[in-house]
Amino acid sequence: MNGPLTVAAPAKLNLFLHVGDKRGDGYHDLESLVAFAACGDEIALESHDDLFLTVDGPFGVGVPTGEDNLALKAAKLFAERTGAAGGARISLRKNLPVASGLGGGSADAAAVLRGLTRLWQRELNRNELCRMAASLGADVAVCLDSVTAWMEGRGECVRALPPLPRTGVLLVNPGVPVPTAQVFAALGVRRGLNLRAPKSGFEDVHTLVRYLRETTNDLEAPAKTVAPLVGELLQVMNALPDVLLARMSGSGATCFGLFANEYVASAAARLLRTRHPQWWIVESTFTDGS
Ligand code: C5P
Repeated sequence: MNGPLTVAAPAKLNLFLHVGDKRGDGYHDLESLVAFAACGDEIALESHDDLFLTVDGPFGVGVPTGEDNLALKAAKLFAERTGAAGGARISLRKNLPVASGLGGGSADAAAVLRGLTRLWQRELNRNELCRMAASLGADVAVCLDSVTAWMEGRGECVRALPPLPRTGVLLVNPGVPVPTAQVFAALGVRRGLNLRAPKSGFEDVHTLVRYLRETTNDLEAPAKTVAPLVGELLQVMNALPDVLLARMSGSGATCFGLFANEYVASAAARLLRTRHPQWWIVESTFTDGS
């Protein structure tokens, strides 16, 4: 092989997230429309005698490189289950803020599973791969394919949906890491589970936004108690020119804004950067497939 094998780990967005009851395993049942943005972490894999991880990139400082990193944990599990004898050098470029509701760690783990399948030429059957992904974390299964999906269960029941219409997407993180478990622990009122997956795709961004207006992210309220800056961020994003919808993703603190196209999203990004130069602000689009 010439050079390392590269795998994208796109940012996950929960366009809505309804939380149901707490289950026996300590997790909550969910229903969520999950989309992926055309930005994310990057993984490079090279054959090596040992199996190890290096991390760099704008958000790489302080990211663990041992087994408490989900990407390395995923690699070890994959090696164990497939009986692969070789090693790999896994280089992770962390472009996404950590503990930010964008599923970065989950996307990294899923990208490692996809990449090692190719590097080591060891294929697990689909069910086994999905089970392995789900055992690593609630969001890992949906990141295996990184396509628009309907998510249920604690996150492990994933059904692909048609690609989303052209949309300008703005991602903003105010720089506070928000641990998912803390947000779930602060959960009070929740909408509960009451939707079915849409039968067909959304015609255009306005149809999508009309649909999303009937939904919520049940984790927004508890995230605001854990990180009050989330409330301020949402107010700022809702006041942006041409924004069609602003909402938090996952357990926060990253919020996304949806716009008619990428040009108005970019204009909003420029405006926001002048007012909040310390925030992480990225304009993007939806993507299907990494
Ligand atoms: O699986 P993951 O590590 O992403 O989940 C982090 C924490 O978020 C879990 O330990 C749990 O407290 C909470 N969680 C939950 N229900 C879910 C997903 C996550 O309660 N469906």
